[in-house]
Amino acid sequence: MIPEEQFKNVISHAKEYGFVFPSSEIYDGLSAVYDYGQMGAELKKNIRDYWWKAMVQLHENIVGIDAAIFMHPTTWKASGHVDAFNDPLIDNKDSKKRYRADVLIEEHIAKIESKIEKEVDKGRKRFAEGFDEAQFRATNPNVLRNIEKIEEINGRMKAALENSQLADLQQLIVDLEIVCPISGTRNWTEVRQFNLMFSTEMGAVSGESGKIYLRPETAQGIFVNFLNVQKSGRMKIPFGIAQTGKAFRNEIVARQFIFRMREFEQMEMQFFVRPGTEMTWYHYWKAARMRWHRALGFPESKYRFHDHLKLAHYANAAADIEFEFPFGFKELEGIHSRTDFDLGAHEQHSGKKLRYFDPETNESYVPYVVETSIGLDRMFLATLAHAYAEEKLEDGSERVVLRLPYFLAPVKAAVMPLVKKDGLPEKAREIMQLLKYRFQLQYDEKDSIGKRYRRQDALGTPICITIDHQTLEDGQVTIRHRDSMQQERVSIEQLPALLESLVSMEAVLQRLNAEQEAYQA
Ligand code: GAP
Repeated sequence: MIPEEQFKNVISHAKEYGFVFPSSEIYDGLSAVYDYGQMGAELKKNIRDYWWKAMVQLHENIVGIDAAIFMHPTTWKASGHVDAFNDPLIDNKDSKKRYRADVLIEEHIAKIESKIEKEVDKGRKRFAEGFDEAQFRATNPNVLRNIEKIEEINGRMKAALENSQLADLQQLIVDLEIVCPISGTRNWTEVRQFNLMFSTEMGAVSGESGKIYLRPETAQGIFVNFLNVQKSGRMKIPFGIAQTGKAFRNEIVARQFIFRMREFEQMEMQFFVRPGTEMTWYHYWKAARMRWHRALGFPESKYRFHDHLKLAHYANAAADIEFEFPFGFKELEGIHSRTDFDLGAHEQHSGKKLRYFDPETNESYVPYVVETSIGLDRMFLATLAHAYAEEKLEDGSERVVLRLPYFLAPVKAAVMPLVKKDGLPEKAREIMQLLKYRFQLQYDEKDSIGKRYRRQDALGTPICITIDHQTLEDGQVTIRHRDSMQQERVSIEQLPALLESLVSMEAVLQRLNAEQEAYQA
């Protein structure tokens, strides 16, 4: 099945099994806004917990906060969002569709990149075992010509964006002969800037003076609380402040399900460091964040770094961790060296000192910041899309299974009496009592056992526990493993420890911590 088709199936699976619903669906939905259902809320919570524990619990020098969504409007003037949080937009006059100019150009570059990959594939087939890919890429004239093209386009785009030369951006679109995907024409308007922040009015004040914004990133709630946390927590540099919470952006190109939403959740950590050490910490956090992703056990080939050409207004170095979604490699997380831009700007706009006295150097300074920022919804999509599998079984039947990492699964175990009589439901209820304080469970007694297994596979439940007549005699149950579909008999007393060893987050965190210590050594 082609990835796009598989992606469509993932979206309908997410709805059918209670993971993600379109927002206010009875009114035909609201574009780029989604609700999480009963399974989705659990999976999202588990991903959030995994991030929080890895950040806050595993680092003595990182603490977590929960700042408000509404902030003083000057915050966004200081952060640069009022003036610079814009997307360059262009309209096609025939289709009346609006596009991000840089996205149109990036899509054009992606087409050239795929030409390069096709050329490399041809070379691989032609030279078979003697194929030296690095040499081929460095010498093949077609590959070199296309690389040169990409470099030229990137160079022009970067210059136009950095210097806010919107006419140059439009000229690039014209020169590249980019057509509107809907109308197929090149009948473009000029490129204009469009601010992405949502605004509303606070209290009884109307007009500009009462205007406040829904935060477009959670990071500013951390910056304005930097001294509060440092002083009240007696934090010593280097230290971090972590936060998860909603952010809002009036995205123009909102598509690909929950990949780009107008209301979404971020998990951000600002790490405050001594000026001059920021690049060391930038590289440290790039590696640390990649380890966090890799600990999920997805293939290494699913991830890559993408170093930014176009830096955000606050950064002096930035990279994305990209994940291979069904629609290609896309940004999953950003790691940014934000210098002293934010704290410096808040000092200026508030008139309050946001400095740290370093007892080691006897100096007072505005700390530099390295940020890690990941979208929870995007992480959810990466996890769900990778976990989704349609399988043909040995007996010729088919199943859809969510191969979620066990510790992230919404339901850890399903408890199932084989039949709804003979005291089996009562025994199953006893097992629910034994386990429900530690694990999210589902009690399921409807339909045949085969159908129930399929239902749990579709939810990603790692373990099914079946209670049969034999259980009443020997106190043993059948455990059925989601991935292998293997079954085994175990005693009821063994269940808590067995489940703990299979589905708890602890082992993953321990491995992550060991890797972290090895990296630091
Ligand atoms: N504080 C830095 C910051 O907000 P960003 O690269 O704009 O940086 C960070 O966003 C992460 O937030 C992205 O890597 C992505 O995972 C997520 N994100 C950004 N915009 C999003 C959107 N419209 N929908 C879903 N997730 C989004």
